[in-house]
Amino acid sequence: MDILKLNAISPLADKIMQGYDLVDESAAPVGILVRSANMAEYDLPSSVLAVARAGAGVNNIPHADYAKRGVVVFNTPGANANAVKEMVICEFMLAARNLAEGISWASSLTGDDVAKQVEKGKKRFVGHEILGKTLCVLGLGAIGRKVAVAANALGMKVRGYDPYLSDAARAEIPFVEVRPTAAEAYENAEFVSLHMPATEETKGMINSAAIAKMADGVIIVNAARGELAVTADVKAAIAEGKVHKYVCDFPTAEINDCDGILAVPHLGASTEEAEDNCAVMAANELKDYIENGNIVNSVNLPCLKVELGAKHRVAVIAKEGVVLPTDGISSTAKGYTYTLIDTDSVIDSDALRGIDGVIRVRVIK
Ligand code: MLT
Repeated sequence: MDILKLNAISPLADKIMQGYDLVDESAAPVGILVRSANMAEYDLPSSVLAVARAGAGVNNIPHADYAKRGVVVFNTPGANANAVKEMVICEFMLAARNLAEGISWASSLTGDDVAKQVEKGKKRFVGHEILGKTLCVLGLGAIGRKVAVAANALGMKVRGYDPYLSDAARAEIPFVEVRPTAAEAYENAEFVSLHMPATEETKGMINSAAIAKMADGVIIVNAARGELAVTADVKAAIAEGKVHKYVCDFPTAEINDCDGILAVPHLGASTEEAEDNCAVMAANELKDYIENGNIVNSVNLPCLKVELGAKHRVAVIAKEGVVLPTDGISSTAKGYTYTLIDTDSVIDSDALRGIDGVIRVRVIK
């Protein structure tokens, strides 16, 4: 069975998926491992049961369409969170201390008196400390919470906003002042760090109106997705001195030609450790689904993980509300119901396939 890799994925994935062929090309793969390749134009073969993204964001995968076809899309929440957190904390200081400009200036100096030029010229790079400053973390998922913890440990006052924050996640960050709206969270904030996915609700949320509410000289760090910010508005705010720096992990031509913007080449998750963690999690998700029908960390279909309780297992993906003639364990989410039927008798899978609203039936064991 082929597992198609649409990007370079850590070789640890091959170790987990022993018995499968992890290949760069295949006409009929059973699963796909992907990092940042844009799957919007990809002609998904009908053989594909699942796609696993080695990363958190899934905006490069048409996952809602895939759900309609019964193709599970997984992500790897938390697997690269430490890498992103470390980069974001580094960027707070990089921006607050004007380090990128200072380093670039110092490297341009020539002559016998470089040390003298340095002492004379360095005053233009005087910065600020992050201690005691107010940070707003937008999105308190695995990454946002880690950023909040680290920033709190460094003496920042942390506020946050997340419409989907669970009680358990909230309990991890008791020191964060969670506010009911994004606007209340970034009001007068001196640092704003973005950790939300790019969705219809979040795209463009960092615009002129939002920036106007932040503190003068705010530093905005975007390690989430470029679409969250309206670049023209950020540039205008930099020109007015309202924004001190915009650090963005998603360079574009529009971003690259502006003083005050630090363009980072999408390095948030680019550590060997994070790449290994993501590959391991993605490969385990894919394998468990193909071999056992278990769904963990799906972004487009219900999650369900059950120990096999009989000789056979049949898995059914159906539209929510479809009633099956056979009992099983079900999970419903996002408009779909996923049912695992464990039985010692033989099931007529074709009869299940014939039921209106049933999208995919798999005889797994
Ligand atoms: C993510 O969504 O987690 C990152 O964009 C992962 C990556 O750099 O591939």
